[in-house]
Amino acid sequence: MNERTALITGASMGMGRRLAERLAGRGTFVVLCANTPELLEEEREKIERAGGRAIAIPVDIRDADWITEVVQHADEAVGGLDLVVANAGIGTPCDGRQMTWDKIAPIIQTNVVGTIATITAALPGMLRRGHGHVLAMSSLAGRRGLPTVSHYCASKVAISRFLEGLRIDLAGTGIVVTDVQPGFVDSAGTGRKADYPMPVVLGLEPAVDYIVKAIDTHAPVMAFPPSLAMAFGAMGWVPRAVFERAAGWAIRRK
Ligand SMILES: NC(=O)c1ccc[n+]([C@@H]2O[C@H](COP(=O)([O-])OP(=O)(O)OC[C@H]3O[C@@H](n4cnc5c(N)ncnc54)[C@H](OP(=O)(O)O)[C@@H]3O)[C@@H](O)[C@H]2O)c1
Repeated sequence: MNERTALITGASMGMGRRLAERLAGRGTFVVLCANTPELLEEEREKIERAGGRAIAIPVDIRDADWITEVVQHADEAVGGLDLVVANAGIGTPCDGRQMTWDKIAPIIQTNVVGTIATITAALPGMLRRGHGHVLAMSSLAGRRGLPTVSHYCASKVAISRFLEGLRIDLAGTGIVVTDVQPGFVDSAGTGRKADYPMPVVLGLEPAVDYIVKAIDTHAPVMAFPPSLAMAFGAMGWVPRAVFERAAGWAIRRK
């Protein structure tokens, strides 16, 4: 059965926006969240013109109290959220040689604090109702530390481990926990900011196909595309010294 209601963060562009359209297109009442009110409103109107139902709530997820309030408010407004997708994330590269906290703090605050606060805020209502689905966007970049994006890798491995532990805690409660780990996706933001080689860049539509599949099959983990997921999996077995030399050579000192 399709979810009746869903909240999606980062719904103003990229995968979040397209996912919102897909879910609305099959009858889900979607709550659209992101920073930029104009883009959100545009998206809400687009969904409604196509015959779907949506409300737009601007929020900066770096403010954990704010996103908590928004999720709780949305939960009441739609009569219970069946699905919460913590998708909003940013990934500006920053070489360790030029790294300062002010450069990387927005990424940690958005990808870690904002994502975990979004998921956490959804749990009490879902636990009361005895069903629900929480899904967050991690990344294949969480599989190993990569040069120029070490902070991004750290933010994504934090999300994967958070979801893994949460899934064990919530077993038997009726709540499904999904960890989505995309490779490189040709989105408006994240996908185009990287200055490292991207071997397989997936289009937005096939990427969203994988996310919808994860929702429909209640997948614990959805890593895609499979070829890149396998390559990143294999990278986990490469000895540290070999990995660090190869990655440094391939990415930073081209
Ligand atoms: N694209 C890739 O190659 C790739 C690969 C692996 C994982 N991912 C992850 O997948 C997710 C979606 O990526 P994407 O490339 O589709 O994203 P995107 O096109 O860059 O869009 C990011 C979305 O997040 C929102 N957002 C950013 N900071 C926010 C904040 N502080 N508060 C509220 N909303 C915020 C943006 O809205 P505003 O502009 O209004 O702030 C926008 O709607 C991210 O978590 C990303 O890290 C992406």
